[in-house]
Amino acid sequence: MKVIRSAAEMHEAVAAVKRAGRRIALVPTMGALHEGHAALLRKAREQNAAVIVSIYVNPTQFGPNEDLSRYPRTFDADLTLCIRESVDVIFAPTDAEMYPGGQTTAWVEEQALAKRLEGERRPGHFRGVCTIVAKLFNLTEPHVAVFGQKDFQQLKVIERMTRDLSYPIQIVPVPTVREPDGLALSSRNQYLSAEERAQAVVLYRALGIAQDLFNGGEHNAHRLQTAMQRTIQLAPAARLDYVEIVESETLLPVHEAKAGNVALLAVHIGKTRLIDNLIL
Ligand code: PAF
Repeated sequence: MKVIRSAAEMHEAVAAVKRAGRRIALVPTMGALHEGHAALLRKAREQNAAVIVSIYVNPTQFGPNEDLSRYPRTFDADLTLCIRESVDVIFAPTDAEMYPGGQTTAWVEEQALAKRLEGERRPGHFRGVCTIVAKLFNLTEPHVAVFGQKDFQQLKVIERMTRDLSYPIQIVPVPTVREPDGLALSSRNQYLSAEERAQAVVLYRALGIAQDLFNGGEHNAHRLQTAMQRTIQLAPAARLDYVEIVESETLLPVHEAKAGNVALLAVHIGKTRLIDNLIL
């Protein structure tokens, strides 16, 4: 396994993989790798391709009051997980390599899907995500790029950006990996105290209640959302940011929920903001 730090070296490695006639599968990450990422790496490996994982905590997708400085950086453990999952290349660039001169004047911005939900609460977030993902696409020239469904809106924004900018890249989604009690794996779970961790299961419970009601014939989105809100309120450490049932491609809210619609929520547990979703 190779660890590459510079754009120039990355271009050379991509050229070598292509000369060898191999396809490339990219897994973009911000490190602090866990079993959710391992599932992405396994999906990439199934593509019969050289697997490149990028590890880069992208400053432009964090707002001024967000957790950029304390975001977990665990490179040695990440390396061990990548070796275990037979990754071919880790691309772990420096800030200077990704944002020469400490800035970027050119941005990639998805307009249609990126304005609501996370985009509304985290202004500039998806502009930062799209810009870095486009740069990673340019640097690694993948045939396939793998993203988790845990960040459902991100997945849809990137699918749309890839199509709009005509990247010849297949976006492959991977279902959310959960703890035994249902909590979605996330690098941010490590911010939770033991008590908060116990209460964080409320996100999954709320989604489960929506699914149960839906299966039982309740399709009114407002009533499903109210049931989810009530469940969240039962956890003293939890503060609901939003809960919505949306159409899965447009991410627009629905009045009557249908199978395939998505329940999305964001909840603060203490000082940690978690997101989760479930496809009904
Ligand atoms: O999902 C993430 O970890 C990040 O948003 C991504 C896609 C790697 C871009 O920095």
